[in-house]
Amino acid sequence: MAIQFDPGTRTFVLRTRNTTYQMQVDGRGRLLHLYYGRAIGTGDLVGLYPPADHGFSPDWYPFRLMRGVSPDVLPLEYTGFNVGDFRLCCVIARDANGAAGADFLYESHEILPGKYSLAGLPAAHDEDNEAETLCIRLRDPINGLELTLFYGVFADQDVITRAARLTNGGAGVIRLEKAASLCLDLPFGRWDLIHFHGRHAMERQMQRVPLSNDIQTVSSTRGASSHHHNPFVILCDHQATEEHGLCYGVMPVYSGSHRTDIEVDQNGLVRLVSGIQDQGFSWTLEPGAQFDAPEVLLACSADGLGALSRIYHRFLRRNICRGQFRFARRPVLINNWEATYFDFNTEKICHIAEKAAALGVEMLVLDDGWFGKRDDDNSGLGDWYVNENKLPGGLRPLIARINALGMKFGIWIEPEMVSEDSDLYRAHPDWALALPGRAPAMGRNQLVLDLGRPEVVDYLAERIRTLLRDNPINYVKWDMNRNMSDVYSRVLPPDRQGEAAHRYMLGVYRLLETLTGEFPDVLFEGCAGGGGRFDAGMLAYFPQIWCSDDTDAIERLTIQYGTSFGYPVSAMGAHVSACPNHQTGRSTPLWTRAVVAMSGTFGYELDLNRLSEEEAAEVTAQIETFKRDYRLIQDGDYYRLTDPAEEPRFVAWEFAAPDQALINLVVTHPEANARPLHLWLRGLDPDALYRVERLDLHGCARVCDETVPEETPARLGAVFSGSTLMYAGYTLPQLFGDYPSVQMHLVRLADAAARA
Ligand code: DGJ
Repeated sequence: MAIQFDPGTRTFVLRTRNTTYQMQVDGRGRLLHLYYGRAIGTGDLVGLYPPADHGFSPDWYPFRLMRGVSPDVLPLEYTGFNVGDFRLCCVIARDANGAAGADFLYESHEILPGKYSLAGLPAAHDEDNEAETLCIRLRDPINGLELTLFYGVFADQDVITRAARLTNGGAGVIRLEKAASLCLDLPFGRWDLIHFHGRHAMERQMQRVPLSNDIQTVSSTRGASSHHHNPFVILCDHQATEEHGLCYGVMPVYSGSHRTDIEVDQNGLVRLVSGIQDQGFSWTLEPGAQFDAPEVLLACSADGLGALSRIYHRFLRRNICRGQFRFARRPVLINNWEATYFDFNTEKICHIAEKAAALGVEMLVLDDGWFGKRDDDNSGLGDWYVNENKLPGGLRPLIARINALGMKFGIWIEPEMVSEDSDLYRAHPDWALALPGRAPAMGRNQLVLDLGRPEVVDYLAERIRTLLRDNPINYVKWDMNRNMSDVYSRVLPPDRQGEAAHRYMLGVYRLLETLTGEFPDVLFEGCAGGGGRFDAGMLAYFPQIWCSDDTDAIERLTIQYGTSFGYPVSAMGAHVSACPNHQTGRSTPLWTRAVVAMSGTFGYELDLNRLSEEEAAEVTAQIETFKRDYRLIQDGDYYRLTDPAEEPRFVAWEFAAPDQALINLVVTHPEANARPLHLWLRGLDPDALYRVERLDLHGCARVCDETVPEETPARLGAVFSGSTLMYAGYTLPQLFGDYPSVQMHLVRLADAAARA
């Protein structure tokens, strides 16, 4: 049993393979948080929090003469509001009198096999019947607001999911002005916050800062999880490294505006509250109505940041992603966006496809511009009908030609948006979000459809259903190219406008649930101007997400590095594009671009006809390499070998499986009189022997290694013990030139061979 309850002490203990989570109902019925961390045995944890009288921390009324029993100092599972705890709160609930108070007391609980689900929201699933659920019911006896806390315990995976349901069990209307998913109190320790900020075309830049004695916030108000602040944070021990130290991950399964606040209180307790963004939010609960706050995935590792990442990688692939593609090899694709932008027709696309097919590419993806009046990004969104000026006869003849080349066919759509210059907008101007009487802010000259309206979702479902039914389409790239402003829904009454942004997300999820359910054979890739909605919520529908509109291999190194803290490589859309790169103007060797894209879903986004014969041959070799290494890359354990903050010269990462490993390295700053390119490998069996099976030095103007002639790749065939490679390390030959890269494949020798 992963979940235990001791009725004597009213203590709940949740156990995963390496962690323990403990809480207790105290004498008054409050649900205290006692512990979350490395696995522990028995012992009275209440003793960790002895009563202490702190000035200006008020006591609950019954304890007013005792003093020292304040809601302002105790660690809690979920907070009330306005009843004496001045720290971050989870909920603001206003009753019909305008009074905002909440104080939840324990009523009952249930321990159930399997995993709970949430109304209309993505959440972890339990296809392998490995989870247990704990539901704890609490209630505010004054206003009748009920709180159900959900805990999904995935013991083998070291993940605990949490969610909160608020139900109006009273007689009057209750207005929620904040409804967070969870509170996580860490009473002791010195912690750093790691978060992933960025901007369009430079997403998920990892930043690590010590917690300070204030409130730190990671949030988005953009109606999307955003390029700017990814909804994933880590709290780690001040001393934690990739390999050592306690770390906690907090990952909301939500794709809209979010907010995570972290406060260090007067006693040093760290309180983290995470969930839907409360700025502009409200939700009216009529008697009997309920509100589900999105799920959050909690993980804890005592073995450093690398181990924490690997927990999330496994969990997102197994328990968030769904359908046949979560473990399947995705086709190597060619996308025409950077090859043609809007300027294409059937012949041009087929010309690109023919070359791609000849080189081994498996799918053509037709990006933006195939529909409506869409010769640039000023018009056409919403008109999901083929533009026959570009594609005479429609999609079918084009797809037939692509299929005749032995390739699958994929298509781009951006259903959540509408252009003012479109038939859809002319027919339904009121479907777009806009504040009454105000000209809306325009992003990419387009507006956001109000997916909080059921008829809009139904319309879009029907249009896309028709597109996918009428045409043999194997893949859909689902884009979203602006953030949400002017949030106002014409179908909501004035006092419910605070619901519009979340209702939009519920509409998006319903649309995605419908379409991915009806078309299980279609591979969906998420996108929001690159990685503007790269989150666990989207991964419940899209097993992969376009990582960034920045396809420059060197910039991608830091983007993919930051992304790797929470998300698996199977989710990271990555392509080889042309040089000079369209975003940065930089030139990098073709092989280096491929090495970077291979640590993602892998594809091409350029006109391969423009390559030299030598480069074209490289493309074929790259595709073969990717296919050969695919299982190791996707199923192997991912290790970051370098930290860009400490090693500015090169970036290295590794995929390790029990029988082999692949080490990747890209030189980002070549040096004169260079210092050694030395790596300590990870994830190997220290007692096993490994042979260097392949050592591919790519894009090097010259290799300097005096121990071997240039033609013989250095140390090919050499045998090392795992302990040697991990503890003494491995030094690569010096590489010259712009951005060379290395892939080194190690194969574990069979035990018999190792003994010989
Ligand atoms: C933004 C995406 O990230 C690009 O890859 C491309 O699909 C464009 N949108 C098309 O408008």
